[in-house]
Amino acid sequence: MNTSNLLLTEEQFAVQQAVRDFAQRELWAGVIERDEQAYFPDELVRKMSEMGLMGMMVSPEYGGGGMDTISYVLAVEELSKVDASAGVMVSVNNSLVCYGLEHFGTPSQKERYLSRLATGEILGAFALSEPEAGSDATSQQTFAEDKGDHYVLNGTKNWITNGGRADVFLVFAQTHPALKHKGINCLIVEKQWKGFEVGKKENKLGIRGSDTHAIHFNDVIVPKENRIGNDGFGFKLAMNTLNGGRIGIAAQALGIAGGAYELALNYAQERKTFGKAIAEHQAIQFKLADMATQIEAARLLCYRAALDKDLHQDYVKSAAMAKLFASTVAMNTTVEAVQIHGGYGFVREFHVERMMRDAKITQIYEGTSEIQKMVIAREILKK
Ligand code: CAA
Repeated sequence: MNTSNLLLTEEQFAVQQAVRDFAQRELWAGVIERDEQAYFPDELVRKMSEMGLMGMMVSPEYGGGGMDTISYVLAVEELSKVDASAGVMVSVNNSLVCYGLEHFGTPSQKERYLSRLATGEILGAFALSEPEAGSDATSQQTFAEDKGDHYVLNGTKNWITNGGRADVFLVFAQTHPALKHKGINCLIVEKQWKGFEVGKKENKLGIRGSDTHAIHFNDVIVPKENRIGNDGFGFKLAMNTLNGGRIGIAAQALGIAGGAYELALNYAQERKTFGKAIAEHQAIQFKLADMATQIEAARLLCYRAALDKDLHQDYVKSAAMAKLFASTVAMNTTVEAVQIHGGYGFVREFHVERMMRDAKITQIYEGTSEIQKMVIAREILKK
């Protein structure tokens, strides 16, 4: 057992091993083609669902795994070591969709949606970002007009992960503009409803297997029973949900960094220059030492945030710190992994250039690094 596993229980260790095996067996072959062709086969989504990865933390009462957040972190990390697109698909369904429904949904909403989302029978998406509302998430232009027993939803959402394949969307929309963020609602919207339109598929730098779309709502009628929480609770729900989501993205970043580090470490011991393995040159040793140290520190921050959540302690700051740090480590590590590989690192077959492209998004989505610093500073200065 290496030092990374010192904190793990037997159950957590078993989850780590099972997902590591799965990722090697099912995700490794084909990851380059999936990246090139920007697709992810339904068959693999089905296999991840069968592994119980779609609702890991959901109560067994609703078909979930009833696991803790550390197990979830380990699973997302192991998936992302091999294929970061698989990592984000699982992270969004667990943290951003199932969590919100389980913690704030009505019994009827849980019965209708959560059980099927947790088993992976259907897939979920989280629709907060808009063309003019990314970091400034309170500036929602999507409008949900209150018509008594239903809302009429109009607007556009951007960069929605799982957008093209999800069945159910948690959609954030303004209902009472005068109340600013306190007028925002979260509505459960089904893709087959009239006026729901899947828009442009984004042609992305990284996580190209992950399906990212714009979504348009044209007079979509949403029954009021599909609003989560009281009138105007939507923004609070988004923020609470994103705190946990950020732990998932930190785990994804940790996985990307770990995957690139392992490849660089192996390569450095095989590749020879000037008559010896490049791992014997101090220039490479220093890079490997920095990578290993940063990854270990990122891992401990991720576990810390997950543990805070599992112990029902405030995890706003620790989640933001984990995401901020792990995403920086993912970027630094993958750049250095490419450098260690030299010319080979610049071509597809050696994987590390893909990991470098994948790493970038972890500094952007679910709150940019700058937003994480805002969140951390506010928590530190809070009276
Ligand atoms: N946890 C809980 N509550 C929070 C919170 C947090 N992290 N951050 C803010 N809030 C609460 C505040 O306490 C405040 O509540 P009150 O009304 O009771 O006072 C309310 O939310 C409004 O907050 P602020 O006054 O601080 O609002 P602001 O506009 O100054 O700042 C922000 C808000 C923190 C910048 C927020 O807009 C934010 O987090 N932006 C980033 C959005 C983001 O992460 N988007 C990711 C998109 S989803 C995605 O990427 C998914 C994917 O597909 C992978």
